[in-house]
Amino acid sequence: MRTIFVTGGAGFIGSAFVRLVLDEHPDVSIVDYDALTYAGNLENLSGVDNARHTFIKGDICDREAVLAAVPEGCDAIFNFAAESHVDRSITSADEFLRTNVIGTQVLLDAARARDVRRFVQVSTDEVMGTLPDDSDEYFTESSPLRPNSPYAASKAAAEFVVRAARETHGVDAVITRCGNNYGPRQFPEKLIPLMIANAIDGEPLPVYGDGRNVRDWIYVDDHCRAIWLAYEKGRSGEAYNIGARNEKENITVVRAILDALGKPHDLIKFVTDRPGHDRRYAIDPSKAETELGWQPQVSWEDGLARTIAWYRSNEAWVSHVRSGEYREYYQAMYGGR
Ligand SMILES: NC(=O)c1ccc[n+]([C@@H]2O[C@H](COP(=O)([O-])OP(=O)(O)OC[C@H]3O[C@@H](n4cnc5c(N)ncnc54)[C@H](O)[C@@H]3O)[C@@H](O)[C@H]2O)c1
Repeated sequence: MRTIFVTGGAGFIGSAFVRLVLDEHPDVSIVDYDALTYAGNLENLSGVDNARHTFIKGDICDREAVLAAVPEGCDAIFNFAAESHVDRSITSADEFLRTNVIGTQVLLDAARARDVRRFVQVSTDEVMGTLPDDSDEYFTESSPLRPNSPYAASKAAAEFVVRAARETHGVDAVITRCGNNYGPRQFPEKLIPLMIANAIDGEPLPVYGDGRNVRDWIYVDDHCRAIWLAYEKGRSGEAYNIGARNEKENITVVRAILDALGKPHDLIKFVTDRPGHDRRYAIDPSKAETELGWQPQVSWEDGLARTIAWYRSNEAWVSHVRSGEYREYYQAMYGGR
């Protein structure tokens, strides 16, 4: 039996990772450590096999709590925990630097103190900034880190503290940099679940700027499989770009959602653009394909259909997370636009 320590396992991607690992790796047990911020939701873990899954509520910046939670000699730390929404980082960056940078450092220190074999840092393509419109350029692992939002800057800084822990202290570490994920249980502040939830309710769909920003979309389980392979097969000190070669303009995504739900396109409402809005992300995943033997398994059409079906049959989940703080935040972001 191997034990792994997963942070942020009550969030969107972390909970998908927990489910996937428990399903596909019967020899693995998981300690799942999450602060349950506005984005962490224990409902995301409903139905998981608790014989091999232990949940601990805690903050990754809390050194004592982290040291108490990480099992001695566990096989890996997977760091999903983060403040993850760009718009929130524009409003206030403090929490992003605290969790994403200090928290990563605390976990690296715990990896050393608890003799953890490998550290997996879940990063993002956003650390590499933006690509020009209509170019044939792609992000590769040698692209410079040129973050443009406070969120991306905090994730880039986290990559640097991971690198420093490896170079200075010999921590075995790999980094994954993925594009935009979509799938069940994503907090409805992010583009796809926001548009699905609004379309179901017949509310306007707020689209930033001209809607022509390009993102490279990947179904969440495909990302999780790549993270697992980076842990099992990745070379220490290496970063792996993860993408499904699926570039789409935001407006194309939004229209596809409306079409799938049989809703009119006049629900689309263009709103003032996000400051510093990166224009295009596009990932060259060749290194992950060749070194890790990774390939995405879920097509865009299938993944989007599965995602829409999940939100349609989980309206209780949506209404729960859309209450309270989420509503105030929603008003602050879109109310005046
Ligand atoms: N969503 C994407 O498209 C995407 C793409 C590439 C990389 N990533 C990265 O993947 C990771 C997970 O993203 P997500 O979309 O699932 O995010 P999310 O916001 O849905 O979940 C983040 C989780 O981290 C927890 N958390 C936040 N601060 C914490 C703290 N101080 N201590 C402990 N737990 C804390 C939250 O409670 C939540 O459960 C992040 O590191 C993110 O940067 C996300």
